[in-house]
Amino acid sequence: MDQAAFVKSNSVQRAPMILPIAVTVTALVILAILPIYYPLRRYPSQAVVKIAASPPYHSAQKLIKAVEDEEKCDIFTGEWIPNPNAPYYTNATCWAIHEHQNCMKYGRPDDGFMKWKWKPEGCDLPIFNPYQFLDIVRGKSMAFVGDSIGRNHMQSLICLLSRVEFPIDDSATDDDYFRRWKYPSYNFTLAAFWSPFLVRFQKPGAADLFDLYLDESDEKWSTQIEGFDYVILNAGQWYFRPSMYYEKRRLVGCRFCQLGNIIDLPMTYGYRRALRTAFRAINSLKNYRGITFLRTYAPSHFENGEWNKGGNCLRKRPFWSNETALEANNLEVYLTQMEEFRAAEWEGKKKGLRYRLLDVTQAMLLRPDGHPSRYGHWPHENVTLYNDCVHWCLPGPIDSWSDFLLHMLKMEGRRSHEEKLQPQTQ
Ligand SMILES: *[C@@H]1O[C@H](CO)[C@@H](O)[C@H](O)[C@H]1NC(C)=O
Ligand SMILES: *[C@@H]1O[C@H](CO)[C@@H](O)[C@H](O)[C@H]1NC(C)=O
Ligand SMILES: *[C@@H]1O[C@H](CO)[C@@H](O)[C@H](O)[C@H]1NC(C)=O
Ligand SMILES: *[C@@H]1O[C@H](CO)[C@@H](O)[C@H](O)[C@H]1NC(C)=O
Repeated sequence: MDQAAFVKSNSVQRAPMILPIAVTVTALVILAILPIYYPLRRYPSQAVVKIAASPPYHSAQKLIKAVEDEEKCDIFTGEWIPNPNAPYYTNATCWAIHEHQNCMKYGRPDDGFMKWKWKPEGCDLPIFNPYQFLDIVRGKSMAFVGDSIGRNHMQSLICLLSRVEFPIDDSATDDDYFRRWKYPSYNFTLAAFWSPFLVRFQKPGAADLFDLYLDESDEKWSTQIEGFDYVILNAGQWYFRPSMYYEKRRLVGCRFCQLGNIIDLPMTYGYRRALRTAFRAINSLKNYRGITFLRTYAPSHFENGEWNKGGNCLRKRPFWSNETALEANNLEVYLTQMEEFRAAEWEGKKKGLRYRLLDVTQAMLLRPDGHPSRYGHWPHENVTLYNDCVHWCLPGPIDSWSDFLLHMLKMEGRRSHEEKLQPQTQ
């Protein structure tokens, strides 16, 4: 299934400029309120920006208990259970929602897809606490490197954090694909590096084939991340596109180019080498001391046709884990990620670098109900967008990725310490 061409039509359309006045006013209001609430309690039980269904925060006691339980628990295996308290922001309280994922704005009639939370087997995964997150990342920097689903995640994170603070735009360029945000009260930096293949590529000419240089990292990110504390990598969907594969600058084959004289290779050939190249680039950075997360593949959910043949995603509730399984392309991509991740982690360890798996695949496989489908634009708008069963509505199930991320950051101190105590096993 070729999903990436869908992303292409998507990426042609730029997000409209955010209304600067609205942003400034919101930011001023929040900055004005913040000092009143924040110093009082470490994790206030009241949201700064009131939203209709504002959640109770976890008491410190409960947090400690959760951390202990979850240490023995695989948080990435479980089920979705009802959560009447969600969502924690709306299209009206958060300006960071990308137009194509602003499903409520564009008339999605049902909101049940927002009202679930992930329940790992054998423990609880606390709902994201923006105060705690910002406390942990104070003075630090986090980069999202990859495709538009990585951007989708970053925008979800900005919205989740917006109950505490909105970031200010600190970007070096006007380029929508390379944004840098700063949280002034926390000196926390978020940055997005758009690199859908992770390796160097050239846009297609007439033949509509991407040229991928599988052994050359994309310098748009690989020369920029050295100073970051956290780097969250992702890629996958674009490798379904027809592409030409180069190694050592020589054509070695292609993926679905349909040219008789060129050997056709599976997408995992290109994808595996690209992951290897990306990890090698990270492991060879001289001054990089950050933690590298690989955010695993989030399956798409086209049914009754491929993405360009009328396929759509119309389900209104999550699957139970016994109703579906990872298979075919999804499984291949996931296994490739696992293998290359383990190899990179092994190499990184020798240099004292930490690798972590943000393993969202199983959770997202179960969420056919969370995609924009046709609610990424007005029905009367004359745009060539297909049903979007690849990205995720905001608010929506992708918000849980920050639940996972915060949990991992909380565990990080202890885990790093334990790893240092382990004897070197090379
Ligand atoms: C938000 O969504 C509602 C429908 O839930 C819609 O009426 C409203 O116009 C949207 N607001 C913005 C700012 O997009
Ligand atoms: C802000 O954080 C950066 C690292 O991201 C650090 O270099 C800088 O010293 C910090 N500034 C302040 C004022 O704490
Ligand atoms: C699948 O799991 C759900 C919830 O655990 C259960 O209610 C349902 O009966 C199961 N279905 C099958 C076919 O096993
Ligand atoms: C939509 O756009 C296409 C190409 O730009 C144009 O040919 C067509 O007439 C437009 N349709 C409507 C209903 O405006």
